[in-house]
Amino acid sequence: MASASFLSTIGKRLEGKVAIVTGGASGIGEATAKLFSEHGAKVVIADVQDELGNSVSNALGSPSHSIYIHCEVTNEDHVQNAVDRTISTFGKLDIIICNAGISDETKPRIIDNMKEDFERVLSINVTGVFLSMKHAARVMVPTRSGCIISTASVSSRVGAAASHAYCSSKHAVLGLTKNLAVELGQFGIRVNCLSPYAMVTPLAVKVVGLENEAFEKALSSAGNLQGVTLKVDDVAKAALFLASDDAKYISGHNLFIDGGFTVYNPSLGMFKYPES
Ligand SMILES: NC(=O)c1ccc[n+]([C@@H]2O[C@H](COP(=O)([O-])OP(=O)(O)OC[C@H]3O[C@@H](n4cnc5c(N)ncnc54)[C@H](O)[C@@H]3O)[C@@H](O)[C@H]2O)c1
Repeated sequence: MASASFLSTIGKRLEGKVAIVTGGASGIGEATAKLFSEHGAKVVIADVQDELGNSVSNALGSPSHSIYIHCEVTNEDHVQNAVDRTISTFGKLDIIICNAGISDETKPRIIDNMKEDFERVLSINVTGVFLSMKHAARVMVPTRSGCIISTASVSSRVGAAASHAYCSSKHAVLGLTKNLAVELGQFGIRVNCLSPYAMVTPLAVKVVGLENEAFEKALSSAGNLQGVTLKVDDVAKAALFLASDDAKYISGHNLFIDGGFTVYNPSLGMFKYPES
């Protein structure tokens, strides 16, 4: 029979790995950082919310297990520093989760949308991901291994689920994912993205303007899969799968965590049971 310590080791799917999570101070990034740490990874939280980021990092353990680095993802020096400090602290970088993101207010008419709001969203959601990917690749290519995962959204596939800027930005994240998966395949580096449906996080609550319970009710009625509610932990588990060796041949993939939201058209109602 296997010993308890043997079981706890094999149950850990990221033992010995080093990961950066951008936007790791809150929401999906925080949940991912916690789950990765539980699975044996050393985790670097890269964010602009210093107090929150430090407290998430402290909760993961001593500085030999996790550190927080102030990193504004649109600033190349910051991103370069986050990657270099990860290497100098933990010796390597195996995984980066390019997750930091924002949304703007959804304004139904394009004529009411301002250029500066559009550019701010693209700057963080696209340029930030580009820089994170670039500096991760810089240190991963020489080692011929690594895993790059970005947080896209259902807005990487469908229209009218978010603002014009947000939808454009998430389509761009998918484009970057595909291009980089092709470029880095020759070095054994996998590049994928996650596309969740909406869930309660500070970002989403701010955009929708509903309290948690009312928000989840609205999400359920707009969603496809009933009887379950998407939580940040579900996205973290999908990230864990893509980051682990279980996904060793998966690259260039957009993994939807959307309960089938992006493949159905509610206007047809074709399979609707009369009693449901
Ligand atoms: N919540 C949802 O419904 C949902 C659905 C699909 C995709 N997403 C995506 O998930 C990702 C995480 O969002 P969340 O919902 O967890 O929101 P969140 O607001 O809880 O977390 C986002 C984190 O990113 C950080 N951040 C923002 N701008 C930054 C910058 N310039 N540099 C560094 N860090 C920055 C914030 O400080 C915050 O900690 C985003 O890319 C978002 O677009 C969210």
